[in-house]
Amino acid sequence: MKTFRVAVLPGDGIGPEVMTESLRVLEAAGKKYDIAMKFEQALIGGAAIDATGSPLPDETLNLCRSADAVLLGSVGGPKWDNLPPKQRPELGGLLAIRKALKLYANLRPVRLYPALFDQCPVRIPSGSGVDLLTVRELSSGIYFGEPKELDESHGLDTMLYEAETVSRIAKVAFEAAARRRGTLTSVDKANVLSASILWRNVVAKMGADYPSVELNHMYVDNAAMQLILNPGGFDVLVTGNLFGDILSDESAALAGSLGMLPSASIGESVNLFEPSGGSAPDIAGKGIANPIAQILSGAMMFEYSFDRVDAARAVEAAIEAALNDGVRTGDVAGGASSVGTRQMADAVIKRLS
Ligand code: NAD
Ligand code: IPM
Ligand code: MN
Repeated sequence: MKTFRVAVLPGDGIGPEVMTESLRVLEAAGKKYDIAMKFEQALIGGAAIDATGSPLPDETLNLCRSADAVLLGSVGGPKWDNLPPKQRPELGGLLAIRKALKLYANLRPVRLYPALFDQCPVRIPSGSGVDLLTVRELSSGIYFGEPKELDESHGLDTMLYEAETVSRIAKVAFEAAARRRGTLTSVDKANVLSASILWRNVVAKMGADYPSVELNHMYVDNAAMQLILNPGGFDVLVTGNLFGDILSDESAALAGSLGMLPSASIGESVNLFEPSGGSAPDIAGKGIANPIAQILSGAMMFEYSFDRVDAARAVEAAIEAALNDGVRTGDVAGGASSVGTRQMADAVIKRLS
């Protein structure tokens, strides 16, 4: 049996707390489903700055490059907020590893579990739900476009999209939509931005190759509103780096908490799996963070990097069973009694077997 080598980068804030617990769940699932894994830890973000001076040490990058998959917690926190941008955990750590591993497609699936209906801030018509996937372009757009400048009198970022980059992400999104409910919403700002006009043209052209997928285009301001008015109307959204960042946090709220939203960053070789949320400095160190986003990110690793859909579905089902039994962390407990990070993971492990 192959042993999968997994690079584990806990990072900062709640990262190490939710990572520890998610690894216990993945171990348990691996045991049950005969998936052998070797976890190898390395530093990233503020933790790496403190230990080595660099937010992404070479040793970490080399480990990730040689691994079968990467699990990441989260990076950043007030302690490192005043460093120059490129030395900060976010740019120098997270964006740098995305760039180095050529991670171009970030999949952020949101599901409102029936047990959490009351935690959804939006009224959902009975009989419907929320089950959508944001496909976020991760390697380009305004995050990475050059020139990028900053001095005392001006700040400049460049939103650049090349047709090739757009078609690469559009293909991921069309294929996801074809496997799901067959609807794709491409989100842009083509009434103003040149990069969006190109985006829309490329996506529209590709639509002809996927006759089974119903494609529609939506401006990002309207999309932000429609997510609240009619979240059940979305199946797959595809959008650029910045819009995807914003809309995916918004969509996480529909599932009850950012602590419910996993992600998979797909690249040309090794893939990286991380919660969509951050290091949550407001609750770090208290043992109360919701580990589900991190655990679900591990389930995405089973599915996307190990081709083990069975184990992925089993982990998701165990989470659902725990939630159905009323086991919840504070962020999704709605004021009712809640458990800590460790007990939440215990409850999931118990329901795996
Ligand atoms: P955040 O995502 O860390 O937190 C936003 C809110 O969501 C907070 O109230 C937090 O408590 C809550 N939350 C997030 N994850 C949770 C969980 N698992 N369980 C319960 N509640 C959870 O965003 P922020 O406060 O804007 O940023 C904090 C730091 O994290 C910043 O340094 C930011 O740059 C960084 N960040 C990192 C990542 C990443 O590493 N992928 C993502 C987003 C933000
Ligand atoms: C995310 C985060 C990152 C992003 C930050 C921390 C650089 O918000 O993964 O959603 O904007 O991509
Ligand atoms: Mn974000």
